[in-house]
Amino acid sequence: MQFQLTEEQLMIQSAARDFAQNQCKPGVIDRDENQKFPAEQMKMLGELGFMGMMVDPKYGGGGMDAISYSIAVEEISKVDASCSVVMSVNNSLVCWGLEHFGNEEQKQKYLVPLAKGELIGAFCLSEPEAGSDATSQRTLAIDKGDYYELTGTKNWITNGSSASVYLVMAQTNVELGHKGINCLIVERGMEGFTIGPKENKMGIRGSDTHSLMFDSVKVPKANRIGEDGFGFKFAMKTLGGGRIGIASQALGIAQGAFELSLAYSKERKAFGKLISQHQAIQFKLADMATRIECARLLIYKAAWLKDQNLPCEKESAQAKVFASETAMWVTTEAVQIHGGYGYVKEYHVERLMRDAKITQIYEGTSEVQRIVISRALLAD
Ligand code: CAA
Repeated sequence: MQFQLTEEQLMIQSAARDFAQNQCKPGVIDRDENQKFPAEQMKMLGELGFMGMMVDPKYGGGGMDAISYSIAVEEISKVDASCSVVMSVNNSLVCWGLEHFGNEEQKQKYLVPLAKGELIGAFCLSEPEAGSDATSQRTLAIDKGDYYELTGTKNWITNGSSASVYLVMAQTNVELGHKGINCLIVERGMEGFTIGPKENKMGIRGSDTHSLMFDSVKVPKANRIGEDGFGFKFAMKTLGGGRIGIASQALGIAQGAFELSLAYSKERKAFGKLISQHQAIQFKLADMATRIECARLLIYKAAWLKDQNLPCEKESAQAKVFASETAMWVTTEAVQIHGGYGYVKEYHVERLMRDAKITQIYEGTSEVQRIVISRALLAD
């Protein structure tokens, strides 16, 4: 066991840090306030090779490990969690799912441009009445011979309007329950596919979250991922490792808020001395740093297991639940340390606090993570 990052991982950290500071930080408050999608930043992330970091280079990816990916997501999330969620969904859900379960034709057609960042992808599981209870899919994919007729609605879809490729879970055989679900690759522009208005969210306001409506969309059978009925397992397997990305996002949000608080505590005076000289603030900083480090270690362990092709669902869920609760706690403390300044936009911590909340909700709520963890413990 060794706790040092490799030369390559350090280089990725430095590149991601520079990118976040130079390309994401300017304009981040404006993008948040006005719900502007970070289009320029996503284009640059593609050019840097950060949109398909773990994909094999033969499919246009960076061939990097999951720890490097986590490091990059952390750095970008320290500054702009709207950028990092777009990146995370593309990397861990869409590219990873296609690379591991797609066929060669699907990889050439969809994975290559997605991994190069030429296209953006979306992962469409949640529905108006199927969020955590993901087996209760109502979207139908009726088998019509050489195509499926897709009808239904998906909700809260990250990259809803920026994506060109959508992985859509839908029920083909209702009687079979989750064993009747398929994952279909849907292209933007297919007839009958419409995108609802952008959600006006509390946090990650730069990212584009939409409902998607499918009205008898003809999706070729060649666009089904895996065998008939593999869709639910596809979603679970993909989310199982993908949660490392959101855990890393939560880690970055917490680390960003901590760094801002540390710096502020060395500048701000109260009662005749710097606030960093008051034990009340020192203890807060100590607890923030300790919880952040615990989250980082859980994430690196889950990422390491993923890199070894070992089961990582439990560890990924542990990392996500702990990191997201840490992000919420740390950002709330960060606002407290900043006092009145923390409550206004210019100091960034109020945005980080709003952004932190979603990490306890998407890619499985904290309650879902606890289901995954406890089931694994009880099955042992
Ligand atoms: N790998 C393979 N198979 C798995 C699996 C995994 N990790 N997890 C479950 N399965 C299989 C089970 O073995 C079972 O199959 P069998 O019947 O053949 O044994 C089947 O899937 C159903 O599993 P469960 O009975 O455990 O299902 P459940 O109804 O009890 O639900 C759950 C389990 C963990 C709560 C699951 O529904 C879940 O993860 N829900 C949350 C969904 C989620 O994360 N949504 C987020 C949407 S994506 C998103 O947010 C993206 C974004 O835009 C940011």
